[in-house]
Amino acid sequence: MGIRIIGTGSYLPPKVVTNDDIAKSLDTTDEWIFSHTGIHSRHVAEAGESTSTMAAKAAQRAMDAAGVKPEEIGLIVLATSTPDYNPFPSTACVVQGILGCTNAGAFDLQAACAGFIYALEQARGFVNFYPDKKALVIGAESLTRILDWSDRASCILFGDGAGAVVLANDEPPGVASLKTKAHTLLCADGKGAGFISRTGGTKDALPINPDTGVPMKGTPLLPELTLQGHDVFAFAVRTLSKVSRDLCELLGTKPEELDRVFAHQANARIIEATARRMKLPLEKFWLNLDTTANTSAASIPISLDQAVRAGQLVDGMKIVMVGFGAGLTFGGTYCVWPEL
Ligand code: UT7
Repeated sequence: MGIRIIGTGSYLPPKVVTNDDIAKSLDTTDEWIFSHTGIHSRHVAEAGESTSTMAAKAAQRAMDAAGVKPEEIGLIVLATSTPDYNPFPSTACVVQGILGCTNAGAFDLQAACAGFIYALEQARGFVNFYPDKKALVIGAESLTRILDWSDRASCILFGDGAGAVVLANDEPPGVASLKTKAHTLLCADGKGAGFISRTGGTKDALPINPDTGVPMKGTPLLPELTLQGHDVFAFAVRTLSKVSRDLCELLGTKPEELDRVFAHQANARIIEATARRMKLPLEKFWLNLDTTANTSAASIPISLDQAVRAGQLVDGMKIVMVGFGAGLTFGGTYCVWPEL
């Protein structure tokens, strides 16, 4: 009984780009990339694919797994930093149209790589108040389309893909909210906004025509991704272990009682350092970024789906999902699978 994940799905585009492929045109090697990140290859969306099409495929698989029809979905929350359009219409609306979820409201949520944790919490609130409806929570990204492919320090890190879950509630309104309110931590630190950022928004004013006083069409600059790798690394290790420990403390459990940790897949060294800090064996952490690289908001739901389909995430397991990303954002959710 309660609010639970009743189906998972994921989609990775078929095209694979290996480190060796990248090394053909950049001064890098498979050895450097793998030893510094744990990444060997990444999936890349090709022509005809985009964040919405990948999201729709992952969501359809999650609905199939849950045995849910499109009309039963009351809300679609889609976490992404790489929407089809910039910024409207939302990619969630495009997905709603593709899937035929005619009874669903739909919106995008931008919390970078922690986006899925934030989106899950929004959807949990929704099914808590509308227990007769289901919610689709999706993380989907086409990060390879916003990278500077001449910057070896950042382009090697990211990949494309989508993951989704269906949430349902089989308890009356009110009961679930009392039971689950301490299960999630959503956090931010705007002082670190410069650690990972991308230009191309409305931060800078257009030049003003001195004769008319009216803004002129600006010269479009190519958006730039800025990444302070060392700062992000330190922040990630600190927050992943702190959020996981704080969640355990809130719930009166101990980290060593966790069966699995689904941490955002940014860098295997970040996950290894987190495991050391939490004094947990690395085997408890889901690791797939050797073949997916960092898929930002999609990384946690892709991991969940892979674990479910591999029989590695089964009912009753105590898990923590924990993420961090640009913003800075970070947060986590504790659950006794599949109950949130
Ligand atoms: O979802 C959040 C997104 N952001 C992240 O996850 C980033 C977190 N940070 C990291 O993962 C790591 O900081 C990186 C993988 C980005 C960098 O690893 P690092 O061990 O911190 O390397 P570094 O930045 O200290 O660079 C060491 C050297 C530099 O050369 P010099 O100045 O020592 O001569 C870099 O120019 O490695 C060089 N380098 C490379 N060499 C070969 C940087 N990128 C590459 C490359 N291939 N791809």
